[in-house]
Amino acid sequence: MQIEIESQPYASVQADALITYVFDTEKKFDGLLGEIDGGMNGRLASLAASGELTGKSLELLLVHFPAGLAAQRLLLVGAGKPEKFSAADLRKLAGTALRHLKSRGMKKLIFLTREGEDGPAAAQAVVEGLVVADFESDKYRTEKKSREIQSVKLAGFDAGLGANLTAAIDQGRVVAESQNFARDLINEPSNRLTPRMLAARAEAMAKEVGLGVEILDERKIAELKMGALIGVAQGSVEPPRVIVLRYTPENPRPGGPVLGLVGKAVTFDTGGISIKPSANMEKMKYDMGGGATMIGAMRALASLKPSVPVIAVIPATENMPGGRAQKPGDVQTAMSGKTIEVINTDAEGRLILADGIFYARQLGCTHLVDAATLTGAIEVALANVNVGAFGTPREYLDQFLESAKAVGEKMWPMPMDDEYEEMIKSNIADIRNTSTGKGGGAITAAWFLKEFAEDTPWVHLDIASTCWLDDGRPWLAKGPTGVAIRSIVDFALKM
Ligand code: BES
Ligand code: MN
Ligand code: ZN
Repeated sequence: MQIEIESQPYASVQADALITYVFDTEKKFDGLLGEIDGGMNGRLASLAASGELTGKSLELLLVHFPAGLAAQRLLLVGAGKPEKFSAADLRKLAGTALRHLKSRGMKKLIFLTREGEDGPAAAQAVVEGLVVADFESDKYRTEKKSREIQSVKLAGFDAGLGANLTAAIDQGRVVAESQNFARDLINEPSNRLTPRMLAARAEAMAKEVGLGVEILDERKIAELKMGALIGVAQGSVEPPRVIVLRYTPENPRPGGPVLGLVGKAVTFDTGGISIKPSANMEKMKYDMGGGATMIGAMRALASLKPSVPVIAVIPATENMPGGRAQKPGDVQTAMSGKTIEVINTDAEGRLILADGIFYARQLGCTHLVDAATLTGAIEVALANVNVGAFGTPREYLDQFLESAKAVGEKMWPMPMDDEYEEMIKSNIADIRNTSTGKGGGAITAAWFLKEFAEDTPWVHLDIASTCWLDDGRPWLAKGPTGVAIRSIVDFALKM
């Protein structure tokens, strides 16, 4: 999909459809929309009078052969109340329009922005919305729908901004394409994406975009004494990997911060000996979503070049109930030296992250963010709306949440009181991998991770309920979402 700034007046541009948006106010036909309505002899105003055009959020109205426009169709998208309107709405609205028109076979589009929404931030949001909406999960269909958006021209943006505008458009494209890169990985079934295959995909990407890459194999993992990861991996015939990706800025500040991104990559989670029920088990192919998130974020950072060095550490394994599998009650020694009583082999994400987090610190990371499809409990708490965000110190978490807010990703801060730590004390080892108490499963899981992050500033994102959507959204296909990548990228760029 080509995306370009259009320099011709929007009315004279040939296209299958021109997209623009309408606010839910009394004065809908100010400025640009008044101009379009004028060309159509006030027919839009009469549609508004009849109640067909209200401007309510994401309402769609498709007008064929609009008078005064060279485009074949005019798609008006409701933008809601102007006082509540933000870049996040612009992103959704652009995506909704693209999916609506793509499903109707349109190929060439113009997106006309409105007065006041013509700067770099708006352009970036529109491009992100378009590129993310264009993603389809049809890789393994032998008969693909031949629908393809060829081009979207961006009109109405302030061309006087020159390089600022083109940089924003490029950034939007890179971030959204990286989100789609991650979504493609998340979609892969486990027979087509084992830990070794994930490592190979990450390595190929790293070489393409100029990131440093190192893949730790089972020998190196054993040498490093990553006992928690090995405990999970030993039930599978597929060997584990730890993927390490490095971004190094041109002039790294000596003694400056180093950001570590740790992602859970369980390429299939059967639960192990504490085996899961078969209903919905197929979805556990997406249990590598946290790892894919970090791989996607690194892909974007390679081109956006933050001033902080970034190291991603992605422990990758299957969780299988093999003859050599670890069993409930087993005690494993993590790389840090802490001992863990494995009460439930299905609480495996925290085990592999324990070693991932510790290793990231050993590599010199001074600040951490982890992402993981860690607990079903986070869905109970937040449904598929908000990512569960944990972290210490609180100021560090708040700083991360600022980034999430800035890029329009919903994340909600979760508590980390000491009382929850009590619930993961073991009778025979340092800690246990499930809680002794009732409830708060996402919090005790986060506390388990903190035992390995210790005092290093750390954010943990539980994306179990937001990484994958069973139902699509008007602006997003069903399946993998690529959530958290935009926030992580923004956070790294501002660090
Ligand atoms: N991968 C799951 C969490 C999960 C659940 C992700 C649903 C996506 C959708 C994780 O490894 C797990 O099994 N967690 C257990 C922990 C429990 C045994 C303490 C859970 O949440 O049930
Ligand atoms: Mn599990
Ligand atoms: Zn899991």
